[in-house]
Amino acid sequence: MKENLEEIAIKIKDLDPIAALRFFAEQYAGKIVFSTSFGWEDQVITHMIFSNDIPIEVFTLETGRLFPETYYVWNRTLEIYNKPIHAYFPQAVALQEMVNKKGPSSFYESVENRKECCYIRKLEPLKRALAGQRAWVTGIRAEQSLNRTDMSNLEWDEQNQLIKFHPIFYWSLEEVKAYVKKHNIVYNTLHDKGFPSIGCAPCTRAVQEGEDFRAGRWWWEDQSKKECGLHATK
Ligand code: ADX
Ligand code: SF4
Repeated sequence: MKENLEEIAIKIKDLDPIAALRFFAEQYAGKIVFSTSFGWEDQVITHMIFSNDIPIEVFTLETGRLFPETYYVWNRTLEIYNKPIHAYFPQAVALQEMVNKKGPSSFYESVENRKECCYIRKLEPLKRALAGQRAWVTGIRAEQSLNRTDMSNLEWDEQNQLIKFHPIFYWSLEEVKAYVKKHNIVYNTLHDKGFPSIGCAPCTRAVQEGEDFRAGRWWWEDQSKKECGLHATK
């Protein structure tokens, strides 16, 4: 059922991110999830949810190709907050067939192969993670890419038939870093090495000073194709 976004937008207009998360958790009790890739935006939101005991389930898409640094942050987050993070894995048979047919690095060979890998490792598991949910919280910020500047902190996701809420959508990178520092939040050290956005290891690299936030993702591809489909843009 499509929600009235305008009505909700008015209700959360003056709320800070924690109060807004509480509002959504109450509004969609038991049917709200937060997806984390363990980047620092996501760590900020995880901290808000876990340290305030907000009843929103946290999940990650375990593609099997994450950086060692990402697994470290995942593990430390479990230790620090002592709360569950649900991992969704790709379907073993589909993954096995793709790798057996095309090898472990087929994504470098064509956009089609890359999308197939993203579908098997992320999109299909995401569908399972979102099935039956009514609201999906993410760590997206407007600054992150051109596609994202014309989005808003609240969206209706037609594909998944739910509300998407991005609690720190309007934060600058400086605000994210300051929050991480202030609350002593564990974060991925790759961020200090030139990685603004951290996805799968074979598909993410550092960017140069002044380069676009997303320049390090699927860098061998044409600019226009560089979204993996997790967040469909209009
Ligand atoms: S992506 O579209 O390029 O893959 P990006 O890295 O910018 O996404 O992250 C945006 C948001 O998507 C994150 O804040 C997080 O909510 C979600 N996300 C991205 N990757 C994952 C993942 N592997 N598992 C769970 N959520 C993810
Ligand atoms: Fe596969 Fe790369 Fe997509 Fe990860 S980002 S799912 S390794 S193509």
